[in-house]
Amino acid sequence: MAENNTDTKSSNQMWGGRFASGPDAIMEEINASIGFDKKLFAQDIRGSIAHATMLAHQGIISSDDKDKIVHGLNTILSEIESGTFEFSRRLEDIHMNIEARLTTLIGPAAGRLHTARSRNDQVALDFRLWVKEELQKTERMLTGLIAAFLDRAEEHAESVMPGFTHLQTAQPVTFGHHCMAYVEMFGRDRSRVRHAIEHLDESPIGAAALAGTGYPIDRHMTAKALGFREPTRNSIDTVSDRDFAIEFLSIAAITGMHLSRLAEEIVIWSTPQFGFVRLSDAFSTGSSIMPQKKNPDAAELVRAKTGRINGSLIALLTIMKGLPLAYSKDMQEDKEQVFDAAESLELAIAAMTGMVRDMAVNTARMKAAAGSGFSTATDLADWLVREAGLPFRDAHHVTGRAVALAESKGCDLAELPLADLQAIHSAITDKVYDVLTVEASVASRKSFGGTAPSEVRKQIAFWRARN
Ligand code: ARG
Repeated sequence: MAENNTDTKSSNQMWGGRFASGPDAIMEEINASIGFDKKLFAQDIRGSIAHATMLAHQGIISSDDKDKIVHGLNTILSEIESGTFEFSRRLEDIHMNIEARLTTLIGPAAGRLHTARSRNDQVALDFRLWVKEELQKTERMLTGLIAAFLDRAEEHAESVMPGFTHLQTAQPVTFGHHCMAYVEMFGRDRSRVRHAIEHLDESPIGAAALAGTGYPIDRHMTAKALGFREPTRNSIDTVSDRDFAIEFLSIAAITGMHLSRLAEEIVIWSTPQFGFVRLSDAFSTGSSIMPQKKNPDAAELVRAKTGRINGSLIALLTIMKGLPLAYSKDMQEDKEQVFDAAESLELAIAAMTGMVRDMAVNTARMKAAAGSGFSTATDLADWLVREAGLPFRDAHHVTGRAVALAESKGCDLAELPLADLQAIHSAITDKVYDVLTVEASVASRKSFGGTAPSEVRKQIAFWRARN
């Protein structure tokens, strides 16, 4: 056996006590997570410092050993940050890479760090800390995106555009109102982020392998030191739970879906056929063959990132769904999904914030489009109800005839002569023309949350106070 203990075949120095030989190359490859979990180095070191400090405070390790451990961990932190740290796949993951280096740096005292701890609660801690920071970053980025929309909404509280249902011209709305629809969506996303931070704000460290520990640890102390509200309450759940990661991915998926709808609108609006917006040079690309083109690549890529994010959510849900309690190695596959989705989401929010801030809005094109397609037909029907006392269903029918007439004459509703309108219904007077313009139409929709500029300004003020 001893002959087998060559450099390539030796067992793992962290857990190899009962192993006679090291892993097969394929075993090492499938088992190692260092390629991606090295991203957790800062969280791992913070967690270890808090753990060692608590162990010393409780008299479980000496304060001398604690000082050596903390000093060694800080040295490792600067080695990793400056790029001089050598990561080894044979040491599997970030936890064992750091601990092995600590042993080299400070000797036997390093072996005391893992007292009353397991990699199971260690990885749960590191990953929670990482996801918490990412959620906080997402919250800030969404605040930036909302601010960009509030500015555009304020600028365009009175700019009229066509509102669509089925992507068919429906009723005139203001561009400010349309922008505020996105403020509502991203505001809900941000409140989901805030709830998720509350949910995960419990410290896993001290759950140990799954059953807790016999050492007199103080989990409230580590929770506080690491900025958590309190410790988790069930050690089995603690090491088997990845809800916090799945919740992050669900929020990322919902936010990504909102970003993708916005991306789609920008793609449509920036076509020459619509011409509602022109993207800045900074957020578009040209064509190598067609010199006239300006392509909305950033918007298209935001739309596509949604696919990746949704994939990550489904992947992690599927990884977790059949796992018995408590920890299983399957859970190591959680990180790449979250890292990839986080990178996509950050990029997508940043790109969208830039596009929204920079895009030039063609109010003349929007207004012309708002008036076409008989978009004030509902206003005519409402006028007949209000001024001529018709039941809405009859007014709808009368208006339908007016639309058909305008269509056959190739003109707009507002261009139909009074005599024509009166031939359809005798109660119509020339006052009707006051509601047939798009400006009159939007100004009249003053119901709470409606598109009237006065109402849009109220909603802007509401969000300004909360952003
Ligand atoms: N690299 C592992 C992971 O990401 C750390 C936990 C390992 N625990 C264990 N019992 N093997 O899940």
